[in-house]
Amino acid sequence: MKLILLGPPGAGKGTQAANIVNAYEAVHISTGDIFRKNIKENTDLGKKAKEYMDKGLLVPDELVVELVADRLEQDDVKDGFLLDGFPRTVNQAQALDKVLESLNGKIYKVINIQVDKNNLVERAVGRRICKKCGATYHISFNPSKSEGICDVCEGELYQRTDDVEETVAKRIQVYLDETQPLIDYYTKSGTIVTINGDQDISKVFNDIKLALGSED
Ligand code: AP5
Ligand code: MG
Ligand code: ZN
Repeated sequence: MKLILLGPPGAGKGTQAANIVNAYEAVHISTGDIFRKNIKENTDLGKKAKEYMDKGLLVPDELVVELVADRLEQDDVKDGFLLDGFPRTVNQAQALDKVLESLNGKIYKVINIQVDKNNLVERAVGRRICKKCGATYHISFNPSKSEGICDVCEGELYQRTDDVEETVAKRIQVYLDETQPLIDYYTKSGTIVTINGDQDISKVFNDIKLALGSED
């Protein structure tokens, strides 16, 4: 299955991506995760991306598009992928259309997770992530059993540097200005399904399953 996850910062894209790739044949591709890995490894791409990410701004299209185009050409994603956090601008969406055309691929569904703006800051600021395996928690909504320690692998939990209130507010504004127009873009192509993200994590996933159907 070839899928796109759309939604504002803190909507639950990463959380639901973990559920989706467990249930369907799709490889999770998160551009945010790829940038964070590059930052950790101090690569040139990481150094460039960090300048923008720390300010809550988008990394320039040309850096992102090339990265995703290369990733989509790899063998492991030929039967399915789940793009999380890409595309984020109309320009990126048009570039993706071209890449897919050259690969003879077609997006099955764009899953648009909608969450009330007032809940997004709390979600992002309370998020904690496992250093080792990347599992995502929330200090109130989805806490780990033991504070600061991952349930899955006992790794240490950390907070993203862009998950401070001021930067989250900026990211939400950038989403409204640059990414929200994609809802119209994909409504025109008829592939979008909008999911109510203001429900329990398991209920959100149930709605996604209903929208995708059971076969993979
Ligand atoms: P990225 O990493 O993609 O961040 P984002 O889009 O801001 O989204 P988040 O990861 O913050 O939220 P999420 O929707 O994944 O929520 P999660 O499931 O974790 O991008 C980071 C930066 O990289 C960008 O700002 C930009 O600079 C750059 N970048 C990346 N892609 C780019 C691109 N294509 N172009 C240009 N720049 C790019 O959940 C959040 C919290 O809420 C968690 O704590 C979770 O436990 C909790 N939660 C989840 N679901 C629920 C629920 N239903 N109820 C209660 N709590 C919930
Ligand atoms: Mg995410
Ligand atoms: Zn872990």
